[in-house]
Amino acid sequence: MSNPRILLLGPPGAGKGTQSKNIVDTYGVEHITTGDALRANKDMETEYGKPREFMEAGDLVPDPVVNEIVTAALADADGFVLDGYPRNMSQAEFLDEHADLDIVAFLDVGREELIKRLTGRRVDPETGDNYHVEYDMPEDDAIADRLVQRDDDTEETVRDRLDVYDENTKPLIEFYEERGLLERIEGDQTPDEVWEDLRVAIEGAVADDE
Ligand code: AP5
Repeated sequence: MSNPRILLLGPPGAGKGTQSKNIVDTYGVEHITTGDALRANKDMETEYGKPREFMEAGDLVPDPVVNEIVTAALADADGFVLDGYPRNMSQAEFLDEHADLDIVAFLDVGREELIKRLTGRRVDPETGDNYHVEYDMPEDDAIADRLVQRDDDTEETVRDRLDVYDENTKPLIEFYEERGLLERIEGDQTPDEVWEDLRVAIEGAVADDE
């Protein structure tokens, strides 16, 4: 199988980061995540202000900043999983001009479950691994003691992020459906079950292209 070019689409908390890890481990492709890139450069001065100001309000960082991150990452990638990009129609049109996709996998999860997942998420600052206070805590106490909550995972900001998703990102489902690229994955299952459905969808899409 040639290196797949995968876009993971879904609301905040749908499991894009969790499933990207499985994709990278299985296919060895590049993980292109605008969220992580922006978190690593939160205080970078841009002509629009610092990314932190947008992220902590749950808003989108301006397109030119994000498009530049993605252009640089795509230039080095032979096969990739895009996680968190595009997030609006103008980013989708920009991507259309810069990359071909094999599949757009939409992780479908209901709003109340998303709020539960995000407000309960904890991150290991040393490895970047995600955990959850109810569903998935590390057995090692040393790891559990150093977990932190992301600044934008408070309930108020989570609700704002979901509203921004509904307004800006949701229309991309139809955009990719019309292009025949969209595969809907039931994201409300266990992480292993989601991965099994996703893996089958990816392998089917790549086989169709060959
Ligand atoms: P970003 O970091 O991309 O955040 P997001 O899209 O809001 O997505 P998350 O990382 O919160 O969720 P996820 O879907 O990866 O879920 P995860 O696997 O962690 O973006 C942050 C901010 O950066 C944005 O708000 C914006 O300001 C800015 N930004 C980023 N990209 C941008 C762009 N393109 N344009 C403009 N601005 C941009 O899972 C969540 C939790 O659920 C975890 O605790 C996990 O353990 C648990 N979990 C996962 N799967 C399951 C399951 N199946 N069952 C139970 N629990 C599960």
